Amino acid sequence: AAGGLLSGLRVLISAGPTREPIDPVRFIGNRSSGKMGYALAAAARRAGADVTLISGPVALDAPAGVETVRVETAAEMHEAVMARTDRTDIYIGTAAVADYTPARVADAKIKKHADRLELTLSRTRDILRSIAALPDKPFVVGFAAETGEVEAHARAKLEAKGADLVAANEVGGAAPGGFERDENALFVCWRGGECHLPLASKTEIAHRLIRLIAERYYAENTD
Ligand code: C5P
Repeated sequence: AAGGLLSGLRVLISAGPTREPIDPVRFIGNRSSGKMGYALAAAARRAGADVTLISGPVALDAPAGVETVRVETAAEMHEAVMARTDRTDIYIGTAAVADYTPARVADAKIKKHADRLELTLSRTRDILRSIAALPDKPFVVGFAAETGEVEAHARAKLEAKGADLVAANEVGGAAPGGFERDENALFVCWRGGECHLPLASKTEIAHRLIRLIAERYYAENTD
């Protein structure tokens, strides 16, 4: 796609859930399908970017022309992303990274005996925050999955994480789009502006979001 909106730019995208092992056969995970991240990777590729996708376990095929690296845990995703940030112009964090991971992984399958079993969890590292804190950071795009007060949470996340742009969608309850759905609607904000991308297929939303990201990237990176 020579001459595309993102041609000559390197885009790094994280997608899907992570799986945090409890023992050799069990894990803690979440409902992320990876569809939004995969759709964004395909859209960025169509826009001419050189795209790398760091993906947690999902049931999707790697998008054509996109270097896809599969990982399992939040720690592995952190490492795979951080190893590539110096070759990245735009980072898009769509992954639903686990916030907590078992403090210890049992070496053998945990047997059922007692009525209660307690798991101790430790916080995982925030990948988006780590990238936004780099001295020579790329343009950083974060996602927010909220169940209410979407606009306020998105603005707060922009500041708290040091991101350049945040895209938020409503999930859960009666929300029309989000996890495991094929459609999505986004509220997008950055310092100095915001807009709504109305409900559409994830393919179409990805296409519109990539256009918006390109616009904001060039607004901040042209002298
Ligand atoms: O803090 P919260 O999980 O609500 O923020 C979501 C955004 O932060 C997403 O872009 C997600 O990919 C990113 N994130 C991350 N590393 C974490 C947790 C979230 O990069 N450990």
